[in-house]
Amino acid sequence: MMNIFEENAPLLSAYWPFLFLPLVVFTLFYISIMFRKRRGIDEESINDIGDMDINDQLMLSNQSKADRIPYKLPRCDKNDLIYKTKSFYQTMNLRRSCRMFSSEKVPEIVIENIIKAAGTAPSGAHTEPWTFVVVERQDLKKKIRDIIEEEEEINYTRRMGEKWVNDLKQFKTDWIKPYLEEAPYLILVFKQTYGFWPDGTRKVHYYNEMSVSISVGILLAAISNAGLCTVTSTPLNAGTRLRDLLGRPSNEKCVILLPVGYPSKTATVPNLKRKPLQDILFRC
Ligand SMILES: Cc1cc2nc3c(=O)[nH]c(=O)nc-3n(C[C@H](O)[C@H](O)[C@H](O)COP(=O)(O)O)c2cc1C
Repeated sequence: MMNIFEENAPLLSAYWPFLFLPLVVFTLFYISIMFRKRRGIDEESINDIGDMDINDQLMLSNQSKADRIPYKLPRCDKNDLIYKTKSFYQTMNLRRSCRMFSSEKVPEIVIENIIKAAGTAPSGAHTEPWTFVVVERQDLKKKIRDIIEEEEEINYTRRMGEKWVNDLKQFKTDWIKPYLEEAPYLILVFKQTYGFWPDGTRKVHYYNEMSVSISVGILLAAISNAGLCTVTSTPLNAGTRLRDLLGRPSNEKCVILLPVGYPSKTATVPNLKRKPLQDILFRC
C-alpha cells in the first residue's frame, strides 16, 4: 500500500508531515471562527468587546438585578426646545482646534466640572474605563512637551510617511508644540484597557476604546460650553513614556491629550468649512 503511494505521489509521500500540520492549524482556526459566528459575534466585534470570564458574567447578571429608580427629564415647550438646540449647535460650531493659547488661568472648579461632565458618558457594561489626568505644574508640562516633541520629530521625519505629512501641511502643524507649556492645563485621557475586581482578578472593560471616545466627545463639548478651547491631539508613540511620567498603571493607555485654556489674543485657525446638513443627514 505504502509502495503504491510512494510510486504515484513521491512528493506528497515525502512531505506529508509538513502539509498535515498547517492543515490541522487551519481547520482548528476555521472551527473557532465558525463557533464564534454561531454565537452571533464576528471577529471585529470580539476585539471591540473583549472576552468575558465568570466574574464578568456575574457582574452583568448582578447589573440586571440592580435597583431601579424613576427616570424623568425636565420638559420644555417647542420654542424653548428649538432655541436650546440651536444655541447648543452655535456653541459647538465655535469649537475649533486651537493651537495658540493664552496663559490666563482658568478656575480649577471649572476643569473639575468639565471632567465631571465627561464622566457622565455611557460605557460598555458601565465599566467607566477612563482616567483624566490634569496637569497644571509647569515643570511637568515642560517634561511632557519634551517627550512629545522628541517623539513627534521622529513621527514627522520617519514614521508617518510622505503622504501623511503632506496631508497635514494645510494645518501648519509640526513637532514644535509650545502650547503644551502655554496652556494653563493639560488633560491627558487614559483608557483603561481592563480593570480589576475587588479580589484582584482582571475585569473586562467592554468597548473601552469606544466608551472613552464618547467621553472625550462630551469633554470637548463641555470645554466649548465653558468658552475655552483645546486641540484634540494624539501623542503617537509617546503614550508609554507619558504614562510612566505621570505614574499611571500598565492597564492604562494614553489616547488623547487636550491642552485647555483661552485662545491667545493673536490666535488663528485654518479656514476650514464643515459639511452641510444635507451631506451628513440621511432621512429614511
Ligand atoms: C482623533 C483625532 C486626532 C487628532 N490628532 C491631532 C494631533 O495629533 N495634532 C493636532 O494638531 N491636531 C489633531 N487633531 C485635530 C484635527 O486636525 C482637527 O480636528 C481637524 O483639522 C478639524 O479642525 P477643527 O477641529 O478646528 O474643526 C486630531 C483630531 C482628531 C479627531
